[in-house]
Amino acid sequence: MDDLYHLAYVSDARLADPEDGPDPDFVEYSLKKILETARKNNKATEVTGALLYTGDHFAQVLEGPQQAVNHWFQLISQDLRHGNVTPLFYERIIERQFDGWSMALCQGEEVPDSLQITGAKPDPDSVEAAALGRSILDSLVAAIRKREAH
Ligand SMILES: Cc1cc2nc3c(=O)[nH]c(=O)nc-3n(C[C@H](O)[C@H](O)[C@H](O)COP(=O)(O)O)c2cc1C
Repeated sequence: MDDLYHLAYVSDARLADPEDGPDPDFVEYSLKKILETARKNNKATEVTGALLYTGDHFAQVLEGPQQAVNHWFQLISQDLRHGNVTPLFYERIIERQFDGWSMALCQGEEVPDSLQITGAKPDPDSVEAAALGRSILDSLVAAIRKREAH
């Protein structure tokens, strides 16, 4: 069987029409569509993870068989609903952190304010990228554990 891998990235959300400014209904509709597709594809390929939407940015952790993680990330990184997709880490893992979540959605309020995702992205493969990836992973895991405890 394929080795388990996990991957994290940050990106700039492009859900709003630049002409009209943000439209909450359109944002909600777009998130719903993204999650529908993500959950269908991820479930079929044993990928799990969490997606953070802050209003301006996305951050996502994908985990699963290496081929599947690679395949979906390839498509995700070309999706026009976001841009500047910046990988933070990509490595082999022993166990999943988001078991049972074909794709959890977290909103900005669920993660600490200290988790700064800005327009300026770290260089992929840099120490800064790895550190940001780690704090995103830790914050998403904490948010999901909190939900599971309720
Ligand atoms: C922020 C964001 C996160 C996404 N996450 C996933 C995901 O986890 N899994 C997935 O298959 N597609 C995800 N997508 C959608 C993919 O970019 C792409 O539209 C989809 O894989 C195509 O699948 P389809 O051919 O079944 O429509 C995401 C898109 C965006 C914008």
